[in-house]
Amino acid sequence: MNSTHLWYKNAVFYQVYVRAFYDRNGDGHGDLIGLTQKLGYLKDLGIDCLWLMPIYPSPLLDDGYDIADFYNIHPDYGTLQDFKQLISSAHERGIRIITDLVLNHTSDQHNWFLEARKGKDNPYHDYYVWRDDDQDYSEARIIFLDIEESNWAWDDNAHQYYWHRFYASQPDLNYDNSSVRQEMLKVAKFWLDLGVDGFRADAVPYLFERDGTNCENLPETHAYLKELRQFIDRNYPGRILLCEANQWPEEVREYFGEGDEFHMGFHFPLMPRIFMALCKEEISPIVWVLEKTPPIPENTQWTTFLRNHDELTLEMVTEEERQWMWQHYAPLPRMRLNLGIRRRLAPLLDNHRGKIELAFSLLFSLPGSPIIYYGDEIGMGDDIWLEDRNGVRTPMQWDNSPAAGFSPADPERLYAPIISNSEFNPQKVNVTNQTNDPGSLLSSIKKMITLRKSFQSFGWGEFEWAFDTKQTQSKPIAAFYRSYLDEKLLIIQNLSSQALTAEIPLSSSSISLNEILGKSSNALINNHTLSIDLQPFDYHWFQVKSF
Ligand code: GLC
Repeated sequence: MNSTHLWYKNAVFYQVYVRAFYDRNGDGHGDLIGLTQKLGYLKDLGIDCLWLMPIYPSPLLDDGYDIADFYNIHPDYGTLQDFKQLISSAHERGIRIITDLVLNHTSDQHNWFLEARKGKDNPYHDYYVWRDDDQDYSEARIIFLDIEESNWAWDDNAHQYYWHRFYASQPDLNYDNSSVRQEMLKVAKFWLDLGVDGFRADAVPYLFERDGTNCENLPETHAYLKELRQFIDRNYPGRILLCEANQWPEEVREYFGEGDEFHMGFHFPLMPRIFMALCKEEISPIVWVLEKTPPIPENTQWTTFLRNHDELTLEMVTEEERQWMWQHYAPLPRMRLNLGIRRRLAPLLDNHRGKIELAFSLLFSLPGSPIIYYGDEIGMGDDIWLEDRNGVRTPMQWDNSPAAGFSPADPERLYAPIISNSEFNPQKVNVTNQTNDPGSLLSSIKKMITLRKSFQSFGWGEFEWAFDTKQTQSKPIAAFYRSYLDEKLLIIQNLSSQALTAEIPLSSSSISLNEILGKSSNALINNHTLSIDLQPFDYHWFQVKSF
């Protein structure tokens, strides 16, 4: 295996909602030319790869995840020419780009569905999943359960029910039809030919349906995804597939195959447990989930994240944990959505600088390649009063002007209001101020990214807790080693709001510790023990050298 093809093992990703990022033409919607202009900012932040949320023609009933045409760009965002320009400008700067590949469904406005509705004799009818009644697949859960009551919807034209795992306006494609399977390979080919570096493959567990199952993670689904992988390996080596499967680690493990299915997979269950650990001020939720995480093939990688464009999903927790999370992180009913929480990182963490930095320290140092959700690097706020998940998709705050430097348009003409509350408005939170301030959140994050990228252990290395995690005194301390070849790092983080002294057992006293983030510490090594005073929410990254 060519090691440059494994670039994703040690890459820092950034999730871009193009509509929210930068509006160049002044129509109130972010666009591809705007994003191209902001590549310098992303380069400076240390980003290796962007994930673009859907940019295709769509009626936007699920913000573009309802695709009406797989082969074009939504007019709000620009043209295919703008897209090519974005790709080449990004590549010139050494930034890769992956896009959303929505395999499971289309919009009900997609031509295939418009044809399919005409009835059983139409050649496209079988592109979707139809039944005369709504009884099949009753074991499949409903995902958007605040809105949908069934996974079947009646179609007046076809006089049949069609199957949909998400909104009724997103009919599921029928993967038992070989033409569908071929069509979607063609879609992938189109974007790979335009130069994308891979795909974040949306909602992959649901491609096939089978009676008597919950219609998730079926063997047929894995077989098709392996076919997609082979197609990419054969024709586009070095491009990647990132799996969105909101599942337990042992199920996501299956999506890595023997290193022949997905290159990467989101670690959904880790994410809420980082929030649990921060709120409980103890490491046990993270210990628990890492114990449950099976090893993955050498050529694959976890993708870790704190927040994204959806609600903070609480699907991969127990009922008790979900109630606990809602109680602590979503005290107002309006903050809850489906099985999750529609809030951004900074408000979730009380806009507490120490906690936010600590969350990023965990994200950057635990196993996996991290992805940052746009705006979280400056601690942007949210607006829970906007519908659906729109409250975490507001315009990026570039400066302190009324339209936050996002658009030359009047603020009233923007696709969504700029965050206006007193804590998170653009006067308080913006890129320009933070870029100029070495003490800002943005500067701290930039530093962590730089350091992360200069040590191989983060992306490639082993992970090992630095002490017996069952001991009570170790509860609030997240201390672990990351090591690769002869490089060794010791990461020490205090989850507690109290100052404390950590005592960490060492296998040898003949070591030296160098704090790579450049923070001062009073680490003392004595008698096979490291003792270090930690401030509330403190974190240190040490390089360990033996002598
Ligand atoms: C994924 C996306 C989500 C979308 C859904 C349906 O879960 O993250 O935003 O609504 O798929 O496509």
